[in-house]
Amino acid sequence: MKTNIEKLFSFEGKVIIITGAAGAIGSAAGHLFASLGAHVVISDLNEEGAKKVAEEITKESGVEALGVKTNATVESELVELVEITLKKFGKISGLINNVGWGANTPIWGSDTDKMVKSYLLNTVGAYNLTKLCMPHLEKESNASVVFSGSMVGVTPSPEFIEYSTAKAGLMNMVRSMAAVSGPKVRFNTVLIGSVDNGESTLAAGYTPEMLKALADMFVMKRRGNPVEIAYGMMFLMSDAAQWITGIDLRIDGGGSYKSKMPGKD
Ligand SMILES: NC(=O)c1ccc[n+]([C@@H]2O[C@H](COP(=O)([O-])OP(=O)(O)OC[C@H]3O[C@@H](n4cnc5c(N)ncnc54)[C@H](O)[C@@H]3O)[C@@H](O)[C@H]2O)c1
Repeated sequence: MKTNIEKLFSFEGKVIIITGAAGAIGSAAGHLFASLGAHVVISDLNEEGAKKVAEEITKESGVEALGVKTNATVESELVELVEITLKKFGKISGLINNVGWGANTPIWGSDTDKMVKSYLLNTVGAYNLTKLCMPHLEKESNASVVFSGSMVGVTPSPEFIEYSTAKAGLMNMVRSMAAVSGPKVRFNTVLIGSVDNGESTLAAGYTPEMLKALADMFVMKRRGNPVEIAYGMMFLMSDAAQWITGIDLRIDGGGSYKSKMPGKD
């Protein structure tokens, strides 16, 4: 069988909603999918940022992108996002639930309000938007939903107790969605390691010195670039991944390795 690689990774005619897409990873994904032919809907709480990214994408790719202000934690705004997308482009072929953030909170420093807010932002918003998109995704061929997970949702992460708990919940939610949605719609998570997103990580409680030390801990000796995560999202959404659903794709520069023979390495 001869494989047409270009065709496998073409997104021509597809319409993909990306949340948190004024940020580092979401905007990189927007640029990438548009360069492969997709109409992308750049949704973000930051209206100015969303519109700016959509304009840049349209100019760069020649494929029309749309910037929409959405608060991913407010259900009525998610309803509007779906309506605006359908009105503009007529269908929804894919969704990237990318919104998320978490501050440094020591393990006994959280409370009900902080825990619930983090759960709303990192997990519940993704559930609500996916539910709203499902009737439209089910009409498309090789429809796919990708979620931005985090390595902190897999390994013990007591420094980010709200965020890591919410991201752990997200992963299992995605597996449940995948289990009952085949063969029509595929669901996968990208498990993200530390990626350079400028001010955002600093606002979460890191200093530049801590980030340098963190980068040195990784097998690949650096933090990731946003587009390196977008490449994984692109693979999971592509026709090359038509038999892949319910997985967690780890993209984290190899993570940090500790010898099982301390003192001998
Ligand atoms: N950068 C990393 O190191 C890293 C590591 C692991 C996981 N992740 C995950 O990847 C995803 C993207 O991260 P990033 O690094 O691009 O972050 P970022 O901070 O650069 O972008 C996040 C975007 O989300 C938007 N946003 C915040 N609250 C919102 C809300 N209520 N509704 C809609 N939009 C909202 C922000 O305006 C921002 O544009 C997140 O889910 C994050 O948790 C990132």
